Parts: sequence; C-alpha cells; structure tokens
Amino acid sequence: MTHLAVIGAQWGDEGKGKVVDLLSPRFSVVARYQGGPNAGHTVVFGGKTHALHHIPSGIFHPGVTSVIGPGTLIDPERLLAEIEGLAAQGIEVDQRLRISLRSHVIMPWHLGLDGGYEARLEEQAIGTTRRGIGPAYSAKMERFGVRVADLARPEELAARYRAARSMGLAERLEALGETMPTEQAIQATARQWWQRLGPLCCDTTDLLHAALRDGRAILFEGAQGTLLDVDHGSYPFVTSSSTGAGGIPAGLGVPPRAVEQVVGVAKAYLTRVGAGPFPSEDDGSAGQRLRQVGKEFGTTTGRPRRCGWFDAVAARYAVRLSGIDALALTKFDVLSGLPEVRIAVAYEIDGERCETLPAVASDLERAEVVYEDLEGWSEPLEHVRCLADLPRAARVYLDRIEELAECPLALVSVGPDRTQTIVPGGSLLEDFGVEATR
Ligand code: IMP
Repeated sequence: MTHLAVIGAQWGDEGKGKVVDLLSPRFSVVARYQGGPNAGHTVVFGGKTHALHHIPSGIFHPGVTSVIGPGTLIDPERLLAEIEGLAAQGIEVDQRLRISLRSHVIMPWHLGLDGGYEARLEEQAIGTTRRGIGPAYSAKMERFGVRVADLARPEELAARYRAARSMGLAERLEALGETMPTEQAIQATARQWWQRLGPLCCDTTDLLHAALRDGRAILFEGAQGTLLDVDHGSYPFVTSSSTGAGGIPAGLGVPPRAVEQVVGVAKAYLTRVGAGPFPSEDDGSAGQRLRQVGKEFGTTTGRPRRCGWFDAVAARYAVRLSGIDALALTKFDVLSGLPEVRIAVAYEIDGERCETLPAVASDLERAEVVYEDLEGWSEPLEHVRCLADLPRAARVYLDRIEELAECPLALVSVGPDRTQTIVPGGSLLEDFGVEATR
C-alpha cells in the first residue's frame, strides 16, 4: 500500500482538485496538511462545478475519510457554509469529514488584520486572499493562536484571548480602524461554532496513525503551490505555510517516510494571483487569450489571474524541492489555437544566465526570460484521450516539458470534467489503480 501526495508545482490554481478527486476512490483517507480557506479547489462532474476551500477534494467519495489536519487553518463560518452546501447536495459530510482538534482557528480579528495590513501596504501589498491567513499563522507562531480544541474549553480560550490582548492586539486593531470583540462575545461565538463543528472534530493524528498501522492508503492533498511556499517561494510574495511535500509530516504528524510518492500538478502554461515576480508573464494578446479561454479568474476571490508561459526553471525547482515523481499537466486544451507556444528555459539576471530560482524576489523581478519557442497547433484537444491522438506539435510540446522539468508526465488533463483526462501507459498512476487511457 502506497501513500501519495498531490501538491501544486506552480503558484497555485494548478487544478489539484480534479487530480485529487480522480484518485480519491483508491484511498482510505484524503488529508489536507496546510493552508485554509485561501484555497479554492474545483471539482467538476455530472455537469456541475463544485468549489472547495477547506474540505479535501476526496469528500465526494463514499468510504473516503477527509481530514483537515493540524497544520491547517479553519474559518468556522466559512467552513460551516461549505459543509452545509455539500450536505444540501446529499453528501454525507458528517460521516466523511474529520477536523483536527489541533488546527488553528481564523478569528474575526485575523480578517480585520489581513485587510488592514493590505490596505496600509498600498503598492507593496502582497495581494492576499484577505481570508486572515497570515495573521492567524502569525498568532500560532506567537503562541496566542486559538485552536479548534479551545472552542470547547472556555478557560483555554480566555487564556489565549487575554494573552493576545496583553501583547497589544487591541491596539494593533485600533490602529487599523478595527475593534477587538469582548471576551464575552468571543466565548459566545466559540460556543456556537463548537455546537455545530464539535461532532466532526477529533485527534486526526491518531486517526492517521491508525490508517498507517492498518495499511490503509492515505492521499496527502496540498493547497496553493510550491512557489508560494513561505520558505522556498518568492518571499515575501508567498502564503504563510509550507506548501511543498516537506509540509506534510509537519502539518499532519506523520513520519516523513509516509510520503512515498509525490505527484506535482502544473498547468500547461502559468498563472499567478496577487503581487510578486512572474518572469514569464505575458501582458499581450497571448496572455489575454489564456485568461479568456482558460477562464482564469480566482475560485476564492474572483480576481483575474495573471497569465503567461510554462516556466521550466520554476517547474524543475518544484520537482527538486518536493521530490516530485511525476507531473500531472492540466488545462492542456487551453493552448490550442496559439500560433506559437513558448517555454521559459532559463533566466538572465544582470547579464548572467540562471537556471534555478534566485533567493531574492527582486532578482526574479528583474530576470529576462530565455524562451524556447515551439510550433503551436490549432486542433481542439477536449476529446483526445490518448497521447497518440494528439497533433504532432502538441506531442513535441509535452516531450519538451518532460525533458526540461526533468520529470515524467503521469496525467494530461484536456478539460475540467473527470472524463477529460489522458493517462499515458506506464504512468505512475497505474500503480494506484488508475487505468491508462490508451
Ligand atoms: P494568502 O495566502 O491569502 O495570505 O495570500 C498570499 C499570496 O498567496 C497571494 O499572492 C495570494 O494570491 C496567493 N494565494 C493564496 N492562496 C492561493 C490559492 O489557493 N491559489 C493561488 N494563489 C493563492
């Protein structure tokens, strides 16, 4: 029995939801290890689009336990709305979802801080999702964060609240034009949240250890992407968690060796939401076309995504950081109709060729891209189900991606639906019971 991680290999929005949903029936548990409602994972089936923010993309499958682990953040109001939305569609969320008692809670003041900081930063703003992610993770590190378990323990909640106040939280909020709720109000809100969420909360670390002991397979679901990793991404234009495979043991309490195989999800081109360097961004007509055809608008915030070309330097970096065994390439159909397709193969920074991601974001901002230009193809790909049926130019493009990213392809997605998927013979996914689409 092998445990598998599915993580983002770019700046998020790679299409992880579809890949996790496809694989989920082969696993006993699907677990999220970092991030919170900043994520927006979409799963399309039966002609309907389902957007998930906290809940793992395995939730649509009976018999699969979906875990929100200790390294994640939850916003109770949003999570409850998500649960209710799924329950209204007849999905047995109560049986399938488990939330860690150790997860941290995004408190109302974290939302105020996130919005307030972004407004203050003006042109230096990160362009966060304003879901309170940075402030809630900061509170966790500063050790006055509120955990899910604290919602059921008024004395613990009071201790965290008072610690936050003594460390100047009320003044910080006031400076941003926000007010800190009273302790009484927070206790009342916590009681309400616990009443509704309590039955779903447990020690998920124990649950995962039992799965490991019993040889039941676990799928680890990443959120955001490698280039947004707090340590290894384009800092400070990053999210506040460890998005790569390295975040899995820390965020779930499983041994590193439990992460046996890693699939990295990458779009056939590249997008980014929010501020920060994006060397292969295309501000011209090709970028606009990618946005329109690829419907590149945020699932969580609705913001238009910045669009550009596949960056093989960044992809190689992601492959090395997380030990990605195979790539799942998504949205390949979107490239049809472009006369020429480009791949970023290196950067030139201050006249020097650079083949990896520089440590400093402003260096990446200055990078000139060295492109390899390939012939495009006009044929639509939505109905293609095997590599042999692809136009020659499209095959050449895929071969170059594999070579330049130094990683084989396990899956190529040619449309949002579960069925619009090419699984080549010999794909890593065959080891997980996914049949090749010959
Ligand atoms: P935060 O995670 O809301 O603090 O946002 C920090 C940065 O990460 C911003 O550039 C966001 O646009 C980006 N980000 C956060 N979550 C996602 C995601 O799920 N997809 C794409 N970008 C994201």
